[in-house]
Amino acid sequence: MPTLRIDGLDVTVEPGTTVLEAANFLGLEIPTLCHMDGLSPYGGCRLCLVEIGTGDKARLVSSCTYPAEGGLVARTNSKRVIRTRKMMVELLLSVCPSSKTIQDMACRLGVSRTRFKARNDDCILCGLCVRMCSEQMMAGAIDFTFRGNKRKIMTPFDKKSAVCRTCGGCMYVCPVCMLRCQGPNPPTVVCGSCYNLEPTCTEHFDDYMCYLGTTGSCGTCVREKRPESKKEEATR
Ligand code: FES
Repeated sequence: MPTLRIDGLDVTVEPGTTVLEAANFLGLEIPTLCHMDGLSPYGGCRLCLVEIGTGDKARLVSSCTYPAEGGLVARTNSKRVIRTRKMMVELLLSVCPSSKTIQDMACRLGVSRTRFKARNDDCILCGLCVRMCSEQMMAGAIDFTFRGNKRKIMTPFDKKSAVCRTCGGCMYVCPVCMLRCQGPNPPTVVCGSCYNLEPTCTEHFDDYMCYLGTTGSCGTCVREKRPESKKEEATR
């Protein structure tokens, strides 16, 4: 069984273990966004970067995909790792600035603003939805298409999928989902669609599991038209 050293601590792991799993076994915390237990590793967000090797040969790798090899020396919190992680979260923030998950992650990493221009996209290409659909829901209704800056996730030919069971699994794992019902909580920047949460929602939220559907799809929340502001009325 391979023995490696992470942050000065030796650990022996089963063959096939990743550096992230070995670090977690030691109780070392490494931030992740595109990693989820039960889904295959993908290495899309690069937040789990660690530095391996020493001297001039030291390099950054994503710990969720890098195998824990015998004799490996890894650092999870070097200056280079922290600086790069901060830049990665800034980039993610610029792609989806309204994602509560990314905002929370940025806050945890001590990042309060991004130097990059906001794009306000609705996908960070983490691939969680694709893996959830094919590996857990056994549907394979969506996948990556195109390359480079045109890369996106969609159904074949962008048509309604015949194999999608609308289970909501993709939305449930999406870190930037703007549609998923957040339950009977005050409206947030991520979810404000069912701004009119009434006792019906509060009472039935758990029973209906409506967090797996789009906002308001369970029909338990009282949906009324948002009252128009006086200014809007005046401009009519
Ligand atoms: S968690 Fe490893 S690259 Fe996203």
